Amino acid sequence: TVSAQGAGGYVYKQFQNPVRDRLIHGLFSSNFTWGVATSAYQIEGAWNEDQRGETIWDTFSHEPGRIVDNANGDIACNSYHKIDEDVALLKELQVKHYRFSIAWSRILPDGTLNKINQAGIVYYRRLINALVEAEIEPVVTLFHWDLPQALQDIGGWSNEILTVYFKNYAELCFLEYGDWVKRWITFNEPSIFAKAGHEHGVHAPGLKHQGTTVYRVAHTIIKAHAKVWHTYDNKYRASQKGQVGITLVSSWAQPSTKWQVDIMAAERYLQFEFGWFAHPLMVNGDYPSVMKTQILEKSIGQGLSSSRLPSFTEEEKVLLRGTVDFLGVNYYTTKLISAWRSDAWPPGYEEDQDLKAWHDESWPKSGASWQKCVPWGFRLLLNWVKHEYGNPPIYVTETGVAEKLNDQDEPKLKDVWRVQYFVSHINELLKAYKLDGVNVQGFSAWTLMDNFEWQDGYSTRFGLYHVDFKSPARTRTAKSSAKKYNEIVTGNGFPV
Ligand code: NOJ
Repeated sequence: TVSAQGAGGYVYKQFQNPVRDRLIHGLFSSNFTWGVATSAYQIEGAWNEDQRGETIWDTFSHEPGRIVDNANGDIACNSYHKIDEDVALLKELQVKHYRFSIAWSRILPDGTLNKINQAGIVYYRRLINALVEAEIEPVVTLFHWDLPQALQDIGGWSNEILTVYFKNYAELCFLEYGDWVKRWITFNEPSIFAKAGHEHGVHAPGLKHQGTTVYRVAHTIIKAHAKVWHTYDNKYRASQKGQVGITLVSSWAQPSTKWQVDIMAAERYLQFEFGWFAHPLMVNGDYPSVMKTQILEKSIGQGLSSSRLPSFTEEEKVLLRGTVDFLGVNYYTTKLISAWRSDAWPPGYEEDQDLKAWHDESWPKSGASWQKCVPWGFRLLLNWVKHEYGNPPIYVTETGVAEKLNDQDEPKLKDVWRVQYFVSHINELLKAYKLDGVNVQGFSAWTLMDNFEWQDGYSTRFGLYHVDFKSPARTRTAKSSAKKYNEIVTGNGFPV
């Protein structure tokens, strides 16, 4: 077994289970696709250049007190001006694809077709051309949280008109880039966007609305996804021959005991986090029944006359189901789940889910408080997805590990814990593929380089490459994990 000092000072080895955590040898299929992922606001910078419209993340990060060190993405990794440098890193890694996102407001400054910004169109065209030239497939996320501010001003995703605007934006992208882009991801982690942005208030747009807005926001997003899928299916699929999917995330939910109530609570957690989006789009056009009954009951308990969870009409249900060509799965951590309701330990009561979710203290820490490293949870989540949704084609669109690093610190280029994180997690992916028959077709590491980590600013890093945010050049330097990832990519797994 490998042992290394964890990012949080933990020694990994002592938590390893010799059977469960044993590394296996084996290869992925020859057409398995390896890549890395980023997102526009986190790397591009150039926030007010070339007529880019403002986004909710510009507004939010410019408000003092929102982000650690009052950081923002005004410059970030300056990738807007560094296409060649970024593509050179991708070539060095020898990845087959690059997952990046398009900033809606760069090509449509106010989010609508009022004005198409040619400079924005040209930027992504140049990036895509550079990738194609390097034989790296572009995989595009259409919405990675940076909503045009003008659309937030009319209510954001609470306003159903956004389904129309999102469709218009997506269609413009299909027309402009569909020649080379064959895999489109409509939304990235909508559950996080909805909750962190509209309930906890820690992400843009910074709303703290208890229990109503989150569900409205998700409701619009689900419809918007389906609308875009149908647009592609009706008008572009025949000529462009691509696919439209969505990226969802959940922690693996591990029942904290063998009691039936805890097993049911863990299942409820997964339905609330993952099923919230996957069930309407991949099962029957409707929310998981446990969500419907649970939220109705809670709403009535709160004295409301109807559920806080909106409902779909019969026509809408027909339009929703079967609109996922591939499922993007992000995985970062595992939680223990208990149905126990007392105020005493464990912490982390979720009102609507009616359960407690927390991290086992003994699991290895990362540099982020919300992440503990649990490789075996990855395999279990993938198996749950396989059984729940009939073994759909899966692309792992993200996993990665946080470290704490401030600009005055020495760069930690020997990131042994990250090497270990990727080895152990990709090995669990291999087990899911080889031993469990999970239909997994690709993997993207989060992330190419250190970047703007939302409310943590630049104090939490996930990159395979270190970025020097003190230098105007934003110099990128490979960490040990970049080298290791390159080995895994070129070996197509773990050869004997
Ligand atoms: C998932 C999000 O998609 C990404 O933007 C974020 O940086 C990583 N998780 C790490 O928190």
